[in-house]
Amino acid sequence: MSLTILIVEDEAGQRQLIAGMLRAEGYQIREADSVESAIVAIKEAPPELVFSDWKLGSLSGMDLLLYVKREYPEVGFIMATAYGTITHAVDAIQAGADDYLSKPYQRQALLLAISKVARSQALKKENKALSSALSEQQSLVGLVGKAPCMQKVFDRLNRISGTDATVLIGGESGTGKELAARALHQLSRRASKAFIAINCGAIPENLAEAELFGAEKGAFTGATSLKVGKLEAADGGTVFLDEIGELPLLQQTKLLRFLQEGVVTRLGAQKELKLDVRVIAATHRDLRLEVAEGRFREDLFYRLNVVPVIMPPLRERREDIGRLIEHFLKLHARQYGFDVPKISQEGMRFLLDYRWPGNVRELSNRIERFVLLGDEQELTQDSGALQQDTGWQLPAEGIEWEAFEARCLAEAMARFDGNRTKAAKWLGMNYKAFLYRLDKHHLV
Ligand SMILES: Nc1ncnc2c1ncn2[C@@H]1O[C@H](COP(=O)(O)OP(=O)(O)OP(=O)(O)O)[C@@H](O)[C@H]1O
Ligand SMILES: [Mg+2]
Repeated sequence: MSLTILIVEDEAGQRQLIAGMLRAEGYQIREADSVESAIVAIKEAPPELVFSDWKLGSLSGMDLLLYVKREYPEVGFIMATAYGTITHAVDAIQAGADDYLSKPYQRQALLLAISKVARSQALKKENKALSSALSEQQSLVGLVGKAPCMQKVFDRLNRISGTDATVLIGGESGTGKELAARALHQLSRRASKAFIAINCGAIPENLAEAELFGAEKGAFTGATSLKVGKLEAADGGTVFLDEIGELPLLQQTKLLRFLQEGVVTRLGAQKELKLDVRVIAATHRDLRLEVAEGRFREDLFYRLNVVPVIMPPLRERREDIGRLIEHFLKLHARQYGFDVPKISQEGMRFLLDYRWPGNVRELSNRIERFVLLGDEQELTQDSGALQQDTGWQLPAEGIEWEAFEARCLAEAMARFDGNRTKAAKWLGMNYKAFLYRLDKHHLV
């Protein structure tokens, strides 16, 4: 570590001894023999750390310390005090010295004090770099966004990342709810622990309990071995409950208990397990409406909604579209090992003006396809007949409803290679309703 240390000591022999010792440890050493020459040296180029003797001619190390703390508060300071003068040590620490050594000290004590201060200096520097990066950041752990509404979201995520507060993330499909949850986890002290995402809409109701809370062997038919629940698996980390609005009412009750008491009980078990898990939930539904209609527990809603975060739709942050295009071009090119392709001016214009009903996900998908196929036509196609707000009308002669429904289902299944969760989501349909309809049309 090439930390620069200024040694201030008026006895030349003593100073050279210390300088030699620290140089041998790889530190960059500068020397001064008085407070005045130390100040000149610091003005020239501030070191990371000052190691000063207390007694220095007519002035003292204390004068230097006060100067340094006033003019260069980020510079570390260690004071060497004469044997037995504990009041000097106390004064030095009170005046802002990072540490003191009382003479005579061992080489080991000096090295230890220096490396301790060096470490805290490095941490301070890192924090500073981090917070200045955060104040004008264009992205937050993978979330791109410079629009004011996104900056507000980043601020909020940063503020709550250090806490264990439960967070409810709302926003339309494809706006980055999951990415925001991952960012929160990454920014938290739990970053090195598990992040477990659960799609509440995709677990069949009868398995939901075992999935979330675990089950003892034999707890129900088919439970041939112990099942560790997702919450338990996330102990120490974060659980992301996606599509929380789809959680069956019974499981809502158990989740509420977990949020209130921090304990779960595996299905078929007697004893409770105490867990340390941060819960982040997301929904594209209006949960208040779900509460009003009796499908979602009100108390659970308030428990989850301690800190609401709303991901704005892409149409409300149009100034970010260009930045996102660039981001995804690079990302997908890197992912497939291709060169970053160019988009024509007309192509760009289309993308910048398009209304993006599928939000960031749609943008990402289109760019991914473009990187793979290089077909700009496809990149700039309006997503066509099945668009909700504009662009299509039912034929004047009327339609065959059942056939139409079957076609929508089939198209969704084809589009997502049979992935029902995605297909259902694409149709804006509740997973169970989707399964019911698939079955009705014999599409399973
Ligand atoms: N601001 C952003 N910057 C970069 N990538 C983003 C951003 N927002 C979303 N994405 C990307 O877009 C895709 C969709 O995001 P994500 O899955 O987080 O959305 P979502 O809100 O959870 O959607 P859904 O409601 O459909 O589950 C992901 O690939 C994600 O990485
Ligand atoms: Mg999602």
